[in-house]
Amino acid sequence: MIFNIEVNNKVIKARKGDTILETLRRNGITVPTLCNMENFTPTGACRICVVEIEGHDELVPSCSHQVDEWMKIHTHSPKVIRARRTIIELLLSSHPDDCLYCIRNKNCELQSLAEEMGIRERRLPIVKSNLKKDPSSAAIVRDPDKCILCGRCVRMCKEKIGISTFDFIGKGMNTLVGTTFNNQLNISNCVTCGQCIMVCPTGALHEKDNISQVQEALQNPEKYPVVQISPTVSVSLAEEFNIKSGKEMDGMLVATLRKIGFKKIFKTAFAADMMVLQIVDELVSRIENNHTLPMFSGDCPAFIKFMEEYHPDMLHHISVCKSPQQIMGSLIKHHFSRQYKIKTESIHSVSLMPCTAKKFEAQREENTHKGIQDVDTVLTTRELARLIRLYGLDIQQAAPELADSPFGIRSSAGKIFGASGGVAEAVYRTLYHRLTGKNLLNFKITQFRSNKNIKELHTKIGKIKIGVAAVNGLANAREIIGQIKAGRNDLQFIEVLACPGGCISGGGQPITKNKEAVKARLKTLYDIDEKESIKVSYKNPAVKELLEKYGGKENDSFREKFQTTYFKRDVLL
Ligand code: SF4
Ligand code: SF4
Ligand code: FES
Repeated sequence: MIFNIEVNNKVIKARKGDTILETLRRNGITVPTLCNMENFTPTGACRICVVEIEGHDELVPSCSHQVDEWMKIHTHSPKVIRARRTIIELLLSSHPDDCLYCIRNKNCELQSLAEEMGIRERRLPIVKSNLKKDPSSAAIVRDPDKCILCGRCVRMCKEKIGISTFDFIGKGMNTLVGTTFNNQLNISNCVTCGQCIMVCPTGALHEKDNISQVQEALQNPEKYPVVQISPTVSVSLAEEFNIKSGKEMDGMLVATLRKIGFKKIFKTAFAADMMVLQIVDELVSRIENNHTLPMFSGDCPAFIKFMEEYHPDMLHHISVCKSPQQIMGSLIKHHFSRQYKIKTESIHSVSLMPCTAKKFEAQREENTHKGIQDVDTVLTTRELARLIRLYGLDIQQAAPELADSPFGIRSSAGKIFGASGGVAEAVYRTLYHRLTGKNLLNFKITQFRSNKNIKELHTKIGKIKIGVAAVNGLANAREIIGQIKAGRNDLQFIEVLACPGGCISGGGQPITKNKEAVKARLKTLYDIDEKESIKVSYKNPAVKELLEKYGGKENDSFREKFQTTYFKRDVLL
C-alpha cells in the first residue's frame, strides 16, 4: 500500500511495511547510519539515525521503525542534530585518538561522522578501556579499543557467513564484541574470510599487514622476488586510486610491479586453468568409477576451514586439487626455480589476492616444504594499493606491459574465477569438451551468472546427467550440505565461495558501500570473457605445453605437487 507522509515539510510517497530509513533513502533524503546494514536484521543499536516525529516526545531510530500514514518527520531538526552529536561525542570519548596511525584513516565512518557533525573539540571526559589488540590470526587483526559496538561484524558473520565467531560479551559499560570466552581469534572458529572487516566502520577489525615482509625481500639483494596477480585484483584495484570502478588495470599493474622491483610477474589465472583441467580429470574419474560425489572445489580456503571444523565427515567430497594460489606457489618454488636455476630459498613468492583467507591458506602445513611456505607473503588488494603508494608510483601513468612467461598466459575461463559461478562455468566448459570431444557452441552459461546465492545447472552431456551448483556465502553452503546429507544426489560438482558474491567482494578488496562499484568489477570480468579468444582452460597454450612435458603418468611427483589433503579441526564453540 502506498500513502503520503510529510518529511521536512514536504510530502513524499511511502510504502507500508518499509522502515522510515528505507522510505527516506528511496526519496533521496539522507540520514546518517552506523549499525544499520542493508539486507540485515536492524538492531537499532547506535541511534545515530534518529529522526523526530511530530507528536512523539522521544526521537526514534529510523532504521528499525516502520513508516506510518500519519507521520510528519523531521530528519535534521535542532533536537535531532543535538542527539546525533552527543552520540558521536560519546563514541569519541572512549575511542583512541590515533587516527593518523590508523589503517582506516580517511576511510573511517566514525571519522567521517565526526567531521559531518562539525565536532572540533573533546567536551566529554576520556574513558580509557586499554583493551589489547589481538594479532593471533593469520589474516585478521582485532583492535577492541576501536570497537564502537555497532554489531555489524556480529551480524555479517552470523547471517551471511554462518559462522558466528563474534558476539556481544558482558553487560552495560563492560560490553564488548568478542569471540567465545573472549579467546584469541586463532583458536576460534573464524574461517578468516575477512567479511567482518568489510562491514566494520572503524579500524577495530583489519587485515594483517604484510607489506614490510615484501619490502624486506625487495631490498635484499640475495632474494629473488616473484609475484602472482589474482584475476580479481586487477579489476578492483582502480577504486583504491579513485579511478573509475571496474577498470581493468592488468597491464598497468604489471608495469608498476616491475618498477617496484619484482623479477617475475605471473598470473594466478594460469594456475586456475591448470586447476580446471585437474578438477575435470578428477570429476570424470569419480563419475566413471562411482566414487564420492558431489565433488566440491577446493579453491576457497575459508570454505575448506569451515568443512574441517563443521563437516569433517565430508572432507573426501573436496577435490584433492590445490587452489590456484597454491598451484602457482608450487610451480614457482618447485618448477620455475629448477628451470631457471634459482635456489628455492632465494625466491620470495608474493601473491596479490582479493582475499584475507589466502593468508591463512599460505601458512597451512600442507602448503610448506621443509618449513618454507610455497607462497611466502599474501597481500590483499588494499595492501597492494598501499605498497604502490609507498613506492610513490602513479599507476595511471604506467604504460601497460605483459606478464612474464612461462606462467603469464591465461584463458578467460581462468579470469572469471573471481565471480561467484565463475569456477563452475570454467569447469563446465572443460567438462563438456572432456566428455564429448567438442567445444560448447555457447560458452556463456547464464545459470551461473545470476545474483542468486545458490545457482544450479542441470543438463545432459552426451548420455550423462550432470548437475553443477555454485554457492556463495557459507550460510548457504550449510543449506546445500544439509540437502546432500539428507540424500540429495543430483549434483556432481559444487563450487563454494565463502564470501557473498564470491572473490569479487572478498575480504581483502577495497572497502566500499557502493554496490555499483562491485557490479562494475563483475561486469569487467565478463566483458573480458566476451572479447577473449581463448575462453577455455584446455586451450591455454602454456598450460598445454607444461602438462604435455611434465604432466604424464610417468611424472607423478610433478602432479602430486598440486594435490593436497584436509584434516578435521577441533574448535571451541
Ligand atoms: S573473518 Fe569471517 S569467519 Fe572470521 S569473524 Fe570475520 S566474518 Fe566471521
Ligand atoms: S568490531 Fe567493528 S563492526 Fe564489530 S562491533 Fe566493533 S565497530 Fe562494529
Ligand atoms: S543506524 Fe539506526 S540505530 Fe544504528
